[in-house]
Amino acid sequence: MSSPDSERSTPVLDAFSRPMRTLRISVTDRCNLRCQYCMPEEEYVWLEREEILSFEEIGELVQIFTGLGVEKVRLTGGEPLLRRDLDRLVRLLAQNRRIRDLALTTNGVLLARHARALREAGLERVTVSLDTLRPERYRALTRSDAHAQTLEGIAAARAAGFEGLKINAVIMRGFNDDELADLIAFGRETEAEVRFIEYMDVGGATRWSMDQVVPRAEMIERLERQFGPVRAIEDETSANGSANAKAPADRFALPDGAAFGIISSTTEPFCRTCDRARLTPDGRWLLCLYASDGADLKRLLRGGTPRAEIAQAVADVWRGRRDRGAEERRVLGARGVLFQIEDLRKDPHREMHTRGG
Ligand code: GTP
Ligand code: 5AD
Ligand code: SF4
Repeated sequence: MSSPDSERSTPVLDAFSRPMRTLRISVTDRCNLRCQYCMPEEEYVWLEREEILSFEEIGELVQIFTGLGVEKVRLTGGEPLLRRDLDRLVRLLAQNRRIRDLALTTNGVLLARHARALREAGLERVTVSLDTLRPERYRALTRSDAHAQTLEGIAAARAAGFEGLKINAVIMRGFNDDELADLIAFGRETEAEVRFIEYMDVGGATRWSMDQVVPRAEMIERLERQFGPVRAIEDETSANGSANAKAPADRFALPDGAAFGIISSTTEPFCRTCDRARLTPDGRWLLCLYASDGADLKRLLRGGTPRAEIAQAVADVWRGRRDRGAEERRVLGARGVLFQIEDLRKDPHREMHTRGG
């Protein structure tokens, strides 16, 4: 979907000169899993159905954002494949010639069913969350028996022709930190690059504690003990080659060449290069994964505010952006979770599954 340079917009810069290049859209707050690090509770407060943006509304907002410099769009959730006819949204977004990278992050459970249609609709990249290769651990982590379905989903994505497949694994001490090597080997077999994610204290992670975080330095040390020197792969662009859009993952290779990534949001955050804006399923626009609040763009959209006026408002807010949530959290001494459960119930926009990971 590469567009001619004439269709590229000059990105609007924030107060730290960070461009707005990436938009992560959570298309639903519902999920068919209950991962311990994201949705550990028994009960949740859900967004009202009539508050959820239609595909057409999402398309309109995306046009506003791509007009201000966004060129990477990622669909997330909750679990995005729970949104009916998601391929229709993909088809609609694929017509936006300013989008240079259209991707999806999914837990993979329903992927085998939808991979081909999504590919045909114009989806370019897929990332699947898979934290363990052991079905019994998967069950304990997600409260679901869908491990085999997730593996089938990864295979189906490959068969459907997706290149640059990625696997996200949140590493938790005492749970799956003994699977680093196995996950890298699995990635190699399936031609999907594994990224290890440090467990974050974001909304939803109400059971988080620092002692469960396996720091990036420790992951590398463990792999080096087993395999020998780990080499950093230097690339200033993300895997899709989009300039100024460094991926959150730093990439490494084992001595035998097997590549993997580490997303060190907790111990070595990357806020200084953060070019991401986030939309919740009901159109709240968040400037940071750690933000406690965001502008209600749906209200403007449904209230008939002229699109140029919405664009102006978005640009003005981005110019004043000073968010660097993960860095601010890191310098706190002893720290607990970002939000208490009562805060999450009062405002579900603070949940990780609402803001899209
Ligand atoms: P590509 O590099 O383009 O493939 O995408 P990505 O890595 O940004 O997307 P993905 O959905 O796979 O995100 C991977 C992990 O990075 C998730 O756990 C996210 O929560 C985390 N992440 C993504 N964006 C941010 C961010 O702005 N801040 C922080 N702290 N973490 C983020
Ligand atoms: N810490 C780290 N990653 C998380 N994700 C969800 N909650 C957390 C957390 N507390 C990740 C999922 C998925 C991505 C969208 O967000 O594993 O890969
Ligand atoms: Fe797990 Fe993602 Fe669902 Fe959260 S939204 S429970 S991380 S699959």
